Amino acid sequence: MVEASENAPLTTNSRAPRSGFCVTTRILFENTALPAMNMNTPPLKIEPENDEDLLVKRQVRECALAHDVSRDISVTYFQMAEAGMEHQWKRDIWPRIKDFDFSVTLDLAAGHGRNSEMLKTLAGEIYIVDVNQSCIDACKARFGDTDGKCRFHYIVNDGYSLKEIPDSSITAVYSWDAMVHFDKLVVKRYIAEFARVLKNGGKAFFHHSNYGHVSPEDNWCANPGWRTNTTREFVAECIQSFGLQSISQDALDWKGSAFDAITICSKAR
Ligand SMILES: C[S@@+](CC[C@H](N)C(=O)[O-])C[C@H]1O[C@@H](n2cnc3c(N)ncnc32)[C@H](O)[C@@H]1O
Repeated sequence: MVEASENAPLTTNSRAPRSGFCVTTRILFENTALPAMNMNTPPLKIEPENDEDLLVKRQVRECALAHDVSRDISVTYFQMAEAGMEHQWKRDIWPRIKDFDFSVTLDLAAGHGRNSEMLKTLAGEIYIVDVNQSCIDACKARFGDTDGKCRFHYIVNDGYSLKEIPDSSITAVYSWDAMVHFDKLVVKRYIAEFARVLKNGGKAFFHHSNYGHVSPEDNWCANPGWRTNTTREFVAECIQSFGLQSISQDALDWKGSAFDAITICSKAR
């Protein structure tokens, strides 16, 4: 076990060629007026099995910290995001997912639950998953155990697996405005998990970065909108390699530039 290694200085030399850590986040945390590390947030225990494992866990840690409202950082983001939901749902989301079976839905990286607010009218059960306890607490306060006819399950996950969710149990995987920030290696691990947790015939809808087409820069929080260097093609390869079937991949304009994409895929019946 290498408990402290996520605190090791992140130098340019420590960055692997095709993946990255967010050096900028660390610099921001150390040199600005942002609050000091919340001591209630336990240090991530890093038990690297190999270099890839270490890269994944470091990027997960950086991205989790960047969105943790218990550190007072992202409160404004979550408040502002709420206001854009209805418009995004009508324009970008609902037309693409209206034929999904939402009986058992996963909202991955749910934040403060603005997407589950829409999904709960369609779903029988929702698994709300987020790497940050503060986000899960906000969702629990918002929805409780049941809201209307929908039952909620809450999981603070490790940031790269869905190990708490049984195999072949989910009819709809959903992730909006979160995987855009995930390193390629993290995206790959989650797609492997989508293939495991989806029921036969189930579908996944997820919004991810396509910024790798603009720049290969792997220092994700130096990129516009904190987009990582993921590409549609990379996601398509992952889908294929984990045995899922691609349905569509659309480029998505985000603030006037096609930095993002939405992928829809399914598990064979
Ligand atoms: C930009 S917010 C979007 C939240 C929500 N999907 C929405 O649309 O409002 C990104 C979310 O991803 C979560 N997150 C960051 N890294 C994660 C990871 N590796 N696995 C799961 N959740 C993660 C953050 O805690 C945050 O809630």
